[in-house]
Amino acid sequence: MKVLVIGGAGYIGSHVVKALIKSGHEVTVFDNLSSGLRENLFDDAGFIEGNILNSEQLDAAFASASFDAAVHLAAFKGAGESMFKPEKYSVNNITGTINILNSMCAAGVKKLVFSSSAAVFGEPEYLPIDEDHPKNPENYYGFTKLEIERFLAWYDRLKGLKFAALRYFNAAGYDIDGELCGLEQNPANLLPVIMEAAAGMREKLQIFGDDYDTPDGTGVRDYVHVTDLADGHVKALDYISREGESLVVNLGSENGISVLELLEDARKISGSKIPAEITGRRPGDPAKLVASSAKAKELLGWEAKYSDCETLVRTSWDVYKRQVKL
Ligand code: WQD
Repeated sequence: MKVLVIGGAGYIGSHVVKALIKSGHEVTVFDNLSSGLRENLFDDAGFIEGNILNSEQLDAAFASASFDAAVHLAAFKGAGESMFKPEKYSVNNITGTINILNSMCAAGVKKLVFSSSAAVFGEPEYLPIDEDHPKNPENYYGFTKLEIERFLAWYDRLKGLKFAALRYFNAAGYDIDGELCGLEQNPANLLPVIMEAAAGMREKLQIFGDDYDTPDGTGVRDYVHVTDLADGHVKALDYISREGESLVVNLGSENGISVLELLEDARKISGSKIPAEITGRRPGDPAKLVASSAKAKELLGWEAKYSDCETLVRTSWDVYKRQVKL
C-alpha cells in the first residue's frame, strides 16, 4: 500500500516507517521537523516537509500520490505540559487531526492508523486495563486523545473512514536492529532520563516517590518496546484493510516494571553508577499501570516480543553510550 506517515520523523514514527517499509509498503513521510529529526528519515521513503496546521500543505501532500492509507503520529505528548499549555494541545493535537481527517476525505483516503494513548484512561479502577476500562483522563493531553477517538468514530459513521486507534502504554527502547539512533531532545520519560544520567548528559535521576503501594514503593508501568509498537501499526493497517472495520486497541506488554527495576538493569547493562535520589511524588502519577493486550492478540495477532526490561534497556543503551565522552 502507499502510506503517508504524518509525524514519521519522530521517535515512534521513524520506527513505524521502518516497519512499514520492511513489510513492503511504499512510504512517504510528512513532518514539520519540530521535534522530528532529519536523521530519522529513510532513503527509501519520500519526505514532504509540512505542518498539520496548514491545510493547503496537507491537501498538497495527499494529492502528491494516490495514497491508500495514512498513519498519524504528529502530536505533542507532554502530559505535564498539557496542563499549563492547553491551547498548544488543543490546536496541534485536535485541530491538526481534524485538518488531517478533512484532507483525507477530500483526497478519498479511507484508512487511518492513529496514535492514541493509555492516558485516555486516567487513574486505573482495576488492573490490567482493558479497552472497556472507564475513560477519565487525568491530563489535558489524554483528553485530546480521547476526543480524537470520538471524532474518528464520527468520521467512520459519516464518511466511511476506517481507523485503528492504538492506545500505547509507555513507549520505550530503540530499534531492535540498532538502525535508528535519533535522540529525543529534553526527554522527560523515565528510560531516556536514566540513559542520560548513565551517559553523563545529566547529573542524576530523580525518582518521583518511593512510598507507593507497589512491591518496592516506586511507580510501576507497562513499558512497550518501540519496535513492538511499530509492528502493531503494520498489523493494525492490515486489519482495517482486510476486515473493513475500525478498531480501538491497547498496545502494552502486560508486564509491570518499577522505576527501581529499570534503574537496576540500566546500572548493570551500562556499567555506570547512575546517581539517583528519591524526591517527592509527581502530581498526577498513578502507582501502577498495566495493560491487557488480549484484544490486540486476538484481533491483530500482536504480542510484545522485545518489551522485557533487559531488551528495553540494552537497545536504549546501545544508542546512548555513543554520547559518553571518553
Ligand atoms: C514513568 C515512571 C514516574 C521520570 C507518560 C505520559 C503518558 C504516555 C507515556 C504518551 C513513573 C517515574 C519518571 C523521572 C521518575 N505518553 N519517573 N523520574 O508518566 O507513566 O506516562 O508517558 O502517550 O501519557 O503521561 O511516563 O516515563 O514520565 O514515568 O521517577 O525523571 O517513572 O513517576 O512512575 P508516564 P514517565
